[in-house]
Amino acid sequence: MKRTTAVPSPYNGMHVGIIMDGNGRWANARAMPRTAGHRAGVRTVRKIIEAATRAGVGTMTLYAFSSDNWSRPTPEVSALMRLLRRSLQVESKRCLENGVRLTVVGRRDRLPSPLLRVIQEAEAVTAHGRNLHLRVAIDYSARESIMRAASLAGADATNRERFAALLAQANHDPFPIRDVDLLIRTGGEQRLSDFLLWECAYAEFYFTRRMWPEFTEEEFLKALVDFEARERRFGGVPAAAAS
Ligand code: FPP
Repeated sequence: MKRTTAVPSPYNGMHVGIIMDGNGRWANARAMPRTAGHRAGVRTVRKIIEAATRAGVGTMTLYAFSSDNWSRPTPEVSALMRLLRRSLQVESKRCLENGVRLTVVGRRDRLPSPLLRVIQEAEAVTAHGRNLHLRVAIDYSARESIMRAASLAGADATNRERFAALLAQANHDPFPIRDVDLLIRTGGEQRLSDFLLWECAYAEFYFTRRMWPEFTEEEFLKALVDFEARERRFGGVPAAAAS
């Protein structure tokens, strides 16, 4: 799949956030270790990045490891760190080929140094990608990001645009990020789990009972089509009522 120039698309510029939940349950249901579920999850990640690029989505943020996930058993955390390192290495090559810019959101001071090196390398080599901005959230807590931005803001915290720029800085983002338009969560739960709290102020939600390893391109496109049918009012009134 190659698409080096942006094409007109109804989803151009759109920001999709995804909480990729259900890897562990998917594996348990098959009598496999949870880590096998995470490996299967990486295959879904690849398919959905390709689908998002083809659909013309502007920004996509994937919740790969929350700051609260450190509380999982040490072997699972270590396996996830290794898997993230290997998959970011592989995916960054594909991102480069497909004009995808890859950046990582979240704290960096607690990550193993081999993973940190891969992140820095991936961000450097994909920096010119223009088809899709893929953000991978690792050691991420929305509350903590907001607090970091607030501490940078000082007296400037009353201006939303300025604060959004500081939030981008706190998240290592190259520029202020558009609010989330559509938030997808797999795995049957219906909660935000400290993901993009600021950016989801007016997000539309799409929940599916499907576990992340079995989430498909078809269902991703279904979520986009479903989103198109929503009426977004941003606190206003329906267009018909305004006339
Ligand atoms: C949630 O399922 C999933 C995770 C904590 C890890 C997700 C990470 C990946 C799929 C790797 C991503 C890689 C890249 C390159 C973006 P869970 O373990 O909470 O599942 P459960 O709710 O069934 O226990």
